Amino acid sequence: SPSSLSPSAPYSNSEGITAVIGGSGFYHLNNLADVEMLTLNTPYGNVAGLQKGQVAGKPVIFMMRHGDGHKVPPHKINYRANIWALKSLGVDRIIAVNAVGGIGDDCGPGAIVIPNQIIDYSYGREHTFADVLTDEINHVEFAEPYSPDLIQLLLQAAKSIALPVLGEGCYACTQGPRLETAAEIARLKRDGNTLVGMTAMPEAALARELGIAYGSVCIVANWGAGLSEQAITLADIHAILAQAADKVQGLVGEALG
Ligand code: HPA
Repeated sequence: SPSSLSPSAPYSNSEGITAVIGGSGFYHLNNLADVEMLTLNTPYGNVAGLQKGQVAGKPVIFMMRHGDGHKVPPHKINYRANIWALKSLGVDRIIAVNAVGGIGDDCGPGAIVIPNQIIDYSYGREHTFADVLTDEINHVEFAEPYSPDLIQLLLQAAKSIALPVLGEGCYACTQGPRLETAAEIARLKRDGNTLVGMTAMPEAALARELGIAYGSVCIVANWGAGLSEQAITLADIHAILAQAADKVQGLVGEALG
């Protein structure tokens, strides 16, 4: 296990580096120039396939959350290695892209949402860097799991490119990989969630533990189970995500520029 709770950044960059973590349907970053492929060793395991480059002259790192070729299911993602690797490269801001199901009335397929809250229903995931014995446990503050600054940046970027987005949402993080039952979605709705996905946690909390600002762009791929007549199919999900990809690339590109 690691000897210190935070990796040291080899790059001393006053502005810091922004990382984009792409989820399902988001496997590259438009306009990423001078791409260098990196593999990082972390105390939690290796992270391969990182792309380091520039967007509009600024350093940007692109990471595929599920690995190259989308092989790792949500509950098996090595979130700690991913976040540690980004921190050790000097990343101080993460823009996460997450495919989700829609629960809120205005969160139908194709909607793009900048979430501001999370309820974590996942379990059994390695969810903290604070599991080594130290004198002081790191109880990080997490009332606002998404950085208000990054939310504003993303909303401003959406406005600049005239892209309609929802400016708030509560992300229910389920364990997966199965989809939810209709009763589970009804409960998530009663709890106040408007989105459901499998990957926001522990990613967001781990970023907070290492002092990295974290924001997300959620793409609604389907109605949550039981909210529409049709059964949820992977083919439909992929079709919706493919349709939204250009819009989300535009939004992320504008935020990075
Ligand atoms: N549930 C959970 N995660 C998801 C869904 C869903 O309906 N759609 C895309 N990711």
